Amino acid sequence: MSENLQTVIAKISKIFDQFVLDLKSMNSKAQVLDLKSKYIGKDGPLTIIMKGLKDATPEEKREIGKKSNECKDQIEKMSKSLLEELEHKEINRSLEENWIDISDRDSIRAKGLCSSGYHPITTIQREIEDIFISMGFEVLDGPYLEDDYHNFEALNIPKDHPARDMQDTFWFKDMAHLLRTHTSTIQVRGMENRTPPFKFVGPGKVFRCERTDASHEFVFHQIEGMMVDKNISVANLMYFSKLLLSEVFKKEVEIRLRPGFFPFVEPGFEIDIRCLICAGKGCPVCKHSGWVELLPCGLVHPNVLKYGKVDTSIYNGFAFGLGLDRLVMMKYAIDDIRLLHAGDLRFVSQFASI
Ligand code: PHE
Repeated sequence: MSENLQTVIAKISKIFDQFVLDLKSMNSKAQVLDLKSKYIGKDGPLTIIMKGLKDATPEEKREIGKKSNECKDQIEKMSKSLLEELEHKEINRSLEENWIDISDRDSIRAKGLCSSGYHPITTIQREIEDIFISMGFEVLDGPYLEDDYHNFEALNIPKDHPARDMQDTFWFKDMAHLLRTHTSTIQVRGMENRTPPFKFVGPGKVFRCERTDASHEFVFHQIEGMMVDKNISVANLMYFSKLLLSEVFKKEVEIRLRPGFFPFVEPGFEIDIRCLICAGKGCPVCKHSGWVELLPCGLVHPNVLKYGKVDTSIYNGFAFGLGLDRLVMMKYAIDDIRLLHAGDLRFVSQFASI
């Protein structure tokens, strides 16, 4: 070996001392990582020393190898602990910067956030309620926790009916209670204590045990509508649907009517609107079809009316179940339903009124 053992050992110590000195001036994680790789990376000074040991005696190699490994370990340890320290500082800084005292209006305003406002789903729900109230509809409520009868049986979906699989249900352990999978339960409850003619809407949360994606959530919102009177026809249904959609969007929207199967309506339809996010070109929200299913509807199945003690020789009716989340997404061009319920103030504050 051209240098003697002690010189090489001293060199390693010097490298280490220099590292310790350099480390002191680091103040970001990226800098620490750079420094670490500069010292112990594959072109680092320690590697170079080890490569230069070709002519050294086994004794020398062992000594130098040992010293170099100790030095490497030390560098690893010190970098790791500084990285952790910096990480903590970063978290604390971000907590301090993003801290919001929600009871303090001024600090909320100072951060450019709103002090209050309605969630866009609430706003649209109320808008729709108002449209229907102005046409003489009542607004009804219903429980989230339901029983088999109101969610399925009385809607012409008997036990073992394959249509039960259409809706992935959150069942309770007793298998008799569930979280309502649709607001159609409000049709059943509405009929229980009314005599025809009547017309009402029923908004609220519904629950489906399914995987989420850009257009599916497991908790979402619907508004049910039901009108029972003499001589109700598909023309009445179309009139109300068109009026509803043009009032909500405040512009003409392109719609299409397709047959749709729901055991509680006959005939059943799906009203789709031209996707307003991609203007019909195709995007994840419309599953690249250019159309979004918005308004399933139909004429109420006679069996459902019978469960509701409506005399089907005199009366019939229509019903619809409008998806509010999708409506909001279309109205404000929101391309992921999950944003609506993520609770992120930066998102919801865009819709605030003050
Ligand atoms: N309840 C149906 C659903 O969730 C929608 C619907 C309501 C269809 C009323 C027809 C009539 O999916």
